Amino acid sequence: MPEAKLNHEERDKRVLDLYEQLLEIEQRLIPTGLHVFGRPSHAQEKADVLRLIASFDRPEFGSRAITDLVAEGVGLVQRGTLFSTLELQQRERVGAVVHQAMEIFVADGEAAAEKFLEQQANVTRHESAKVFSLLNDVSEKLKTNNELESLVRALRGEFIEPGPGADLVQNPAILPTGRNTHAINPYSIPSTASFARSKVVADSLLDRFRKEHGAYPQSMALVLWGLDNIKTQGDGVAQALWLLGVKPVRDALNRVTQVEPISLAELGRPRIDVVMTISGIFRDLFSPTVQLLDKAVRLVAHLDEPHDLNYVRKHVMDQIAAEGCELDDAAVRVFSNAPGNYGTNVNFMVMDSQWENEDTLGDLFVIRKCFAYGRDSKGRPIEGREARRAMDRALARVQATYQNIDTFEIGLTDVDHYFEYLGGVSKAVEKRAQAKPAIYLSDSLSRDVKIRSLEETLRLESRAKTLNPKWYEGMLKHGFRGVAEIENHVSNTFGWSATADAVDDWIYTEVAGTFLLDEEMLDRLRKLNPHSVHSLVERLLEAHGRGYWDADDSTLERLRDISRSLEDQLEGVA
Ligand code: BEZ
Ligand code: MG
Repeated sequence: MPEAKLNHEERDKRVLDLYEQLLEIEQRLIPTGLHVFGRPSHAQEKADVLRLIASFDRPEFGSRAITDLVAEGVGLVQRGTLFSTLELQQRERVGAVVHQAMEIFVADGEAAAEKFLEQQANVTRHESAKVFSLLNDVSEKLKTNNELESLVRALRGEFIEPGPGADLVQNPAILPTGRNTHAINPYSIPSTASFARSKVVADSLLDRFRKEHGAYPQSMALVLWGLDNIKTQGDGVAQALWLLGVKPVRDALNRVTQVEPISLAELGRPRIDVVMTISGIFRDLFSPTVQLLDKAVRLVAHLDEPHDLNYVRKHVMDQIAAEGCELDDAAVRVFSNAPGNYGTNVNFMVMDSQWENEDTLGDLFVIRKCFAYGRDSKGRPIEGREARRAMDRALARVQATYQNIDTFEIGLTDVDHYFEYLGGVSKAVEKRAQAKPAIYLSDSLSRDVKIRSLEETLRLESRAKTLNPKWYEGMLKHGFRGVAEIENHVSNTFGWSATADAVDDWIYTEVAGTFLLDEEMLDRLRKLNPHSVHSLVERLLEAHGRGYWDADDSTLERLRDISRSLEDQLEGVA
């Protein structure tokens, strides 16, 4: 290590960076157990969730972010300056006051918390009352849980009241739970707030790429999901429109049916070519939005602009010149499954271990997702026409892939869908572009938008969840199912090795050390669920076998022993 060569300043910076990372892990909100159907949340879970709800401006409830109120009250910022621009220590100071205020609120109620904030941080009761009134409402609704009753009523064929779909932090109006999630009017997508919010995300994404690669990406592949766009009122869609450099236009009925270009002067950068791979659910729920996205690409392709400021036009013109194809073939950018089909199957192929090399995974993604949607230049609908060649061409230009993450409840290793989609498309790009794309995720959970690379996000998720005793002990309280969840997380992590080679060796080493090489833990796990422990060991051995994990011989030997002994146990021989 070149430690000795660091000067004081560099050393201090490194320590501060490390400190920032530790704080990031510490402050990351994680689920500490599975949701138990019909059970209201505990007090501690409640304080955490309320704190997060209070840390956002809530114009719909007339309240401001509590972090801003405290930062202003103690004189750290002027009104209008974001809390996130504060120095780390100042943020910590504000965080501590907010934390304490929430605990007082949960223990002693609104009046005590208001008094505390007034005395400790000069927050006027007028302002804090608005925040606590919202929190009171949320807190009351969290006490009730109609899930079981609603289920029984649904089974009796009775009416279930509808409610919005989102997570609690995004939209507290989802409470009480146990209602019938309704979608949104697709013509309202993206909402005005979502479009404004998404500019910051798209700009940060491009900034990050530019810092790392020295230029704008000419082409990016985006993954768009239905539920995510319901929850955020269209953040993914809005980000795609920003990258293309167009804005949504509402008609006389306030429906988003058109787009118009943002001028290059206003944009201040080139228009990025965007390949959109959309889920079957998105295709089904957002038919007008699918048309809008396709329309946006075609509009940009027709703008008479210099090619170095309009990469869509550049690529479409280049392809027409090189292949003599029609504009309709060169401008296809919205891809999904064949009508009536869903998913990429990349997750099933990975989980079954029945694949020879990684290219197969990317090819499977394209086979499943190469169906074009939109309208041709004569206005005739294209409803899932197979367009494999067009997709191959479009992916061959991609330099970066990206997906928006909008909830703390479900992340990269919680489900197999992130790697099947973002991993799948990235692997498909790698073969077609003959270069690995940069892979990014945004974290729009916190107010200060963060763009992270896939590798960074996986490190954070592994530390905050899979390897975090708070997380796995929370899971283990659920016994059999909890062990299955741990195994799921490791398998989903493995999915990121298979599709993107994005998992550090230390992550597998720590998984082995935490769950298998620790005798006491191994004992607990195999008593609860030997099947999942066996799958876990086999997955780690597969990670080694496929070259994703450089493990030492004694570790491997021990894992093979454990595997044999579990097989004996499962066969009832032990
Ligand atoms: C969707 O909402 O589009 C979606 C949900 C689960 C997996 C994949 C996509
Ligand atoms: Mg590796």
